[in-house]
Amino acid sequence: MKQSVKLVAGNWKMNGLGASLGEAEALAKALQEQAAACRVALCPPATLTERMARVLEGSAVELGGQDCHAEASGAFTGSVSAGMLVDAGAALVILGHSERRAGFGETDADVAAKVEAALAAGLEPIICIGETLEQREAGQAVEIVSRQVAGSLPDGLSGKAFAVAYEPVWAIGTGLTPTLEQIEEVHAAVRAAMVAKLGEGGRVAPILYGGSVKPSNAAEILAVAEVGGALVGGASLKAEDFLGIIRAA
Ligand code: G3P
Repeated sequence: MKQSVKLVAGNWKMNGLGASLGEAEALAKALQEQAAACRVALCPPATLTERMARVLEGSAVELGGQDCHAEASGAFTGSVSAGMLVDAGAALVILGHSERRAGFGETDADVAAKVEAALAAGLEPIICIGETLEQREAGQAVEIVSRQVAGSLPDGLSGKAFAVAYEPVWAIGTGLTPTLEQIEEVHAAVRAAMVAKLGEGGRVAPILYGGSVKPSNAAEILAVAEVGGALVGGASLKAEDFLGIIRAA
């Protein structure tokens, strides 16, 4: 299914102090000047969310978190709840990023619990999935992402606003991207897995592509069937690059 309005989200990861706020201001102004044909979201580190909400006030740019805890509150030192992100001005949240799965041991079940917490707080989750290089080379990409969709999407998602982001782990921050055919194959499999999990409710949510998206490859990737937007890392830190991707959408 081809989405008419694409979602382009920038994941700043643990970057974005000082100069990047100026970049975000430039980005917001540029967006106000040129009507964007897509939804645009920025996902800064949690501590910058409120500050970015002020910077972006009045612009069409939406704000997201990069993770949240599955519980609403409690003794969870170092964690941020979905409700806290909402309070700070976020409307979306990235969940299950491969850096959280690999670095913090998050399982599909953990991700599904976080998705439920995000929905309960009124956030739109962007649920990340993707195979490692080893899995890709073993011919398991479709199997892996299908399993991740089945395990990471809670049943209650049907009818809710959410997105899935296919990010091959080996394409993140490496400059490598799958071929357009590989992207199309995996996105079709992700859609099928979403429908298998959620029924007709699995047909609507956009499936973003993420992993070394840049202005020079964004147009062709975003034109692939079932690519409903992009989740952008490094290139979202520079207004010029991020705007180039937004224009391609
Ligand atoms: O979440 C987006 C990210 O993992 C992709 O990073 O730097 O390859 O665009 P990058």
